[in-house]
Amino acid sequence: MNNTEQFIEKIISGLTIEEKVGMVHGNALFHTKEVDRLNIPQIVMSDGPTGIRYDFYDDKWVLIDQNYDYITYIPSNSAVASTWNPECARNSGRVLGEEARGRGKDVILAPGINIKRSPLCGRNFEYFSEDPKLIEEMVAPMVSGIQEYDVASCVKHFAANNQETDRMAVDTIVDERTLREIYLPGFVSAIKRGNAYSMMGAYNKLNGQFCCTSSKLIDDILRKEWGYDGAVISDWGGVHDTDEAVNTSLDIEMDIQYEFDEHYLANPLLAKIKSGEYPEDIIDNKVRNILNMMLRLKMIGEDADNRLAGTYNNIEHREMVKGVAEESIVLLKNEDNRLPLNKAKIKTVAVIGENGKKVHSNGGGSAEIKALYEICPLMGIMKELGGNTKVYYADGYYVTEEAEKTEENWQAQSAMKQEKEENDINSEILKKRAGLREEAIKLAKMCDEVIFVGGLNHTIDCEGKDKDELTLPYGQDELIEALLKVRPDMIIVMHAGSPVAMTWADKAKAILWAYYAGMEGGTSIAEVLFGKINPSGHLPETFLKDINDCKPISDGQFGLEGSVEYTEGIMVGYRQYDSDNTDVLYPFGYGLSYTTFDYSNLEIQVVENEEDVDVNVTFDIENTGSIAGATVAQLYVRDVKASVNRPYHELKDFSKEYLEAGEKRKVTMTLNKEAFDFYSVEEGKFVLEAGAFVIEIGQSSRDILLEKEIHISKNYIRDTF
Ligand code: GLC
Repeated sequence: MNNTEQFIEKIISGLTIEEKVGMVHGNALFHTKEVDRLNIPQIVMSDGPTGIRYDFYDDKWVLIDQNYDYITYIPSNSAVASTWNPECARNSGRVLGEEARGRGKDVILAPGINIKRSPLCGRNFEYFSEDPKLIEEMVAPMVSGIQEYDVASCVKHFAANNQETDRMAVDTIVDERTLREIYLPGFVSAIKRGNAYSMMGAYNKLNGQFCCTSSKLIDDILRKEWGYDGAVISDWGGVHDTDEAVNTSLDIEMDIQYEFDEHYLANPLLAKIKSGEYPEDIIDNKVRNILNMMLRLKMIGEDADNRLAGTYNNIEHREMVKGVAEESIVLLKNEDNRLPLNKAKIKTVAVIGENGKKVHSNGGGSAEIKALYEICPLMGIMKELGGNTKVYYADGYYVTEEAEKTEENWQAQSAMKQEKEENDINSEILKKRAGLREEAIKLAKMCDEVIFVGGLNHTIDCEGKDKDELTLPYGQDELIEALLKVRPDMIIVMHAGSPVAMTWADKAKAILWAYYAGMEGGTSIAEVLFGKINPSGHLPETFLKDINDCKPISDGQFGLEGSVEYTEGIMVGYRQYDSDNTDVLYPFGYGLSYTTFDYSNLEIQVVENEEDVDVNVTFDIENTGSIAGATVAQLYVRDVKASVNRPYHELKDFSKEYLEAGEKRKVTMTLNKEAFDFYSVEEGKFVLEAGAFVIEIGQSSRDILLEKEIHISKNYIRDTF
């Protein structure tokens, strides 16, 4: 036994049963119980993915109104993923970690990395992508960035938590191959490459077992197969039975209920131990994992005095999150080089659309925060133009009033089901909308430039409920059509956390897409509009024209209560759409630039070794335009012939390349067996079947610029971790 193990065993041997039980469940909404006698502190946890959530009272979902918990508002994971730059993920993680420490937290309940199985999931804004490879490449640096500051990342929600409907009980039925190829790789990367100190079990069931106490998911896969020795924390209310929780290697039960002593791993457990039903050491392993995490965080042990203190709200953090926001903006359309706008020629601008003035940081569910500030697009535009340009604003559309906030936070509700946005469009609302539309049209006619800022908000992109459709709410489509009739040159900015249908896209000349991009999101949107920044974002998910093209929806297997079957299997997102050649609005990986790039000279060398294969891919990229810019080179692999059904192609590598005007660069990517294999249920491993494969290089899944067939003559096997 090494010194660390001895240190931990010594503590465990000195703990009473009551003290051990106090460590394995929350004795407050966001912390466990300390053991002062042995200098064991409580573990303090906090949401969330876009910043350190404001404080609640220990024992009620009511905000503590204090003036010192304003924090840096970080771009949502969808925005981070749309940068296709792992360093943006690392920097976001660093800000999150240093601010969590600065606010005295030990565990930050982030990132959320669930697959965007359908564009209608209410929490998609919190997640990275529809593609496991993009998630793998983003989650590892983000977790590492967080944990640089002696704070544990708590990667969530493990696993297959891909809808909000009935989220605390729905049974997700997923076949083994789909689980291994699509829904687990992000968590493998978080642990294997990111070294995540903790994981959060999901609310839902997976194949009949609640995730938080699933012997298959937590014991067999996470602990035995992957050898995970971090702490496993339940989602808040994810535990439903004492015996299940005791006999699974979950470590900490958290809940939304206030009767903390009545949690399944509290008095009910204590009673079972006291009655002799369980031996006194029954939860020692849980305590061991918790102490192990505390050691890693320097909360205990010889390093306790060297623990980083962190800080929050500093300028460096704001600059870092602005850098992420800048790289996240996606240029979807730019006909006749309509953008960027030339400030010098503009005397009047009309900004139309409620998302022009709206801020989003204070919504979305547990991701809600109290941002130090948030620059909305209107303010971004005004401060970018300055005082020589007159900027007018009009709502343009009418957002039905949000339900007034009650003192007790929405999360106190046991099902944490958010009320659906009322869609009963009565005559009063229609009349109000018509008035706003006329006002907007009048303003649009009188200004040099018109910028529409619409999209969604967190009454729609929200935890606890799913969206019903892709259609833009509040009558935006009618408004946009009416405005384009009088101003076909209107610029359209869509600001949202998840894709929307854009029935007017063919009629618009310029369309910009911005996810919820943090406190400097509005600044970044404006800097792209006026050319200070050359946009380099690429979509981390497919934008559809028709939601019924999404198989989970057309199969009626999304958003169900009770149970939902992943009938599409591995054919998620572009895997399905590119195999079916679906007519999509904008494909996975798509994004334009103010400059142009030329790809050429694809060369591939295949070296087959005993244990693995090295496939060395090189190609040239040239910036053929007149300004510097960045492109995202994406490498897809197509298996020409396989013994199982495989997607048309799959993303297996990518690289964001920044090039000066006229600059040409050779790019190298090296692939190994995991780029070619699939999960064999029979073997219980990933297998690479010898044969022909096509290597594709492109700027989106539908814009393949170079390709070459290769042949791999040997079979290879790979473990799942
Ligand atoms: C919520 C969410 C989870 C969050 C936790 C604490 O229900 O599912 O993501 O971290 O509870 O607020």
